[in-house]
Amino acid sequence: MSSYEKESPIIKQLSDKVGGFTVSIHYDRRLYKQDIKGSIVHAAMLCKQKIITLADRDAIQNGLIEIEVEIETGSFTWKPELEDIHMNIESRLHEKIGPIAGKLHTARSRNDQVSLDMRMFVKESIDTVISQLTTLQRILLDLSSKYQDVIVPGYTHLQKAQPVLFAHHLLAYFQMFDRDKTRFREASQRTDVLPLGSGALAGLPYDLDRNYVAEELGFSNISANSMDAVSDRDFVIDYLSAASICMMHISRFSEELILWTTEEFSLIKLPPEYTTGSSIMPQKRNPDFAEISRGKTGRVYGNLVSMLTILKGLPMTYNRDLQEDKEGFFDSHDTLTAVLEVFTGMLPGIYVNSDNARQSAEGGMVLATDLADYLVAKGVPFREAHGIISNLSDYASSLDKMFGEISLEEYRKFSPIFEEDVYEVTVESSINARNTIGGTSFNMVQQAIERGYEQLKESDD
Ligand code: ARG
Repeated sequence: MSSYEKESPIIKQLSDKVGGFTVSIHYDRRLYKQDIKGSIVHAAMLCKQKIITLADRDAIQNGLIEIEVEIETGSFTWKPELEDIHMNIESRLHEKIGPIAGKLHTARSRNDQVSLDMRMFVKESIDTVISQLTTLQRILLDLSSKYQDVIVPGYTHLQKAQPVLFAHHLLAYFQMFDRDKTRFREASQRTDVLPLGSGALAGLPYDLDRNYVAEELGFSNISANSMDAVSDRDFVIDYLSAASICMMHISRFSEELILWTTEEFSLIKLPPEYTTGSSIMPQKRNPDFAEISRGKTGRVYGNLVSMLTILKGLPMTYNRDLQEDKEGFFDSHDTLTAVLEVFTGMLPGIYVNSDNARQSAEGGMVLATDLADYLVAKGVPFREAHGIISNLSDYASSLDKMFGEISLEEYRKFSPIFEEDVYEVTVESSINARNTIGGTSFNMVQQAIERGYEQLKESDD
């Protein structure tokens, strides 16, 4: 035990704890960079406000910089008996510069310190996630342009419904990820509040310059209530809920990729490096990456529910329960960033079988609605047209025929209104007819792709 550990009542108290139950260093050491940066700026502010001397500030700052190097080069000795990242760093600073180290904690509590570290980490994580989502969106636009002519059946109830462009289907995910980015941006705004300067709970009896600290650490706002500041983890919940919704989107996408690779769909092939073989069945190419991504959604939801539950019964202000915010958050950060990495790696290499897609789009009576609309254009009320085509569909499927294979004579048995031009109703005409804003026409999808690229360019600037 170092002299500091022996002298300091806090450390003594920590070391007496049994069994490591209160120890968090094995996970909160991930906050070392944020903790050191926060301390460097705090020391600068204390000096600027003449609370510590220039010499003290320099000793503290240089010590902290050395500690950062020690941590990064692996020579730092982590001590579980010191419980957490804050005490590990402070104690090491004491070993290096002696009692001056004790001045760093002037006008600060671990309660505002830990909230600061978490907020800094969460903000950085959000920046990473948003840039990964942007990459993913760009990939979706690239795939949409590449496969602009591919027609697939669109589904409702997982039953073939109407033909759509494959690009239109992909661009639905572009929109989902766009909303995810908005949610993360909003989460970032609520995280962007400096808690340091709140002390343990009541504020601090020093002449602090919180604006200076906020500016130096890149925070746009300063917490307005010290009690709220040390007990608030809404920003973690905001993050976890945005992450959960994003994972839900990823999971739906995974599910579709998995379906599309089946022999039954035969719509796409995943790049071989994103599939695995079976140990027993030589023919198998299993979509494990997509499956694991779908599966990992569960743990991200779990972390959200866990955090909501941790907070629900807490009285004001800081309670040690709050230490439980970290593992779930780190796990969600790791999971989400890893899954996004997988998706941005996997998607550009998918192969789309446009012949199978087309064949599939022509089956399943997907033109039924268009045939009803054909009759409507000739003056038949929609409800009546619906009935006629419903009978016609039953007839065609009983003979295992597609609409194009039915003779005009047969058509006319269902309604005399049918004429030769009924054969002009095709998957292309169906798609092109849907030229309303947000529809699947070639024209609309082309515009959507262009708008998408524009939008990403703007968000880059
Ligand atoms: N390890 C603690 C946490 O993560 C740091 C704050 C400790 N504060 C206290 N009053 N014991 O919440």
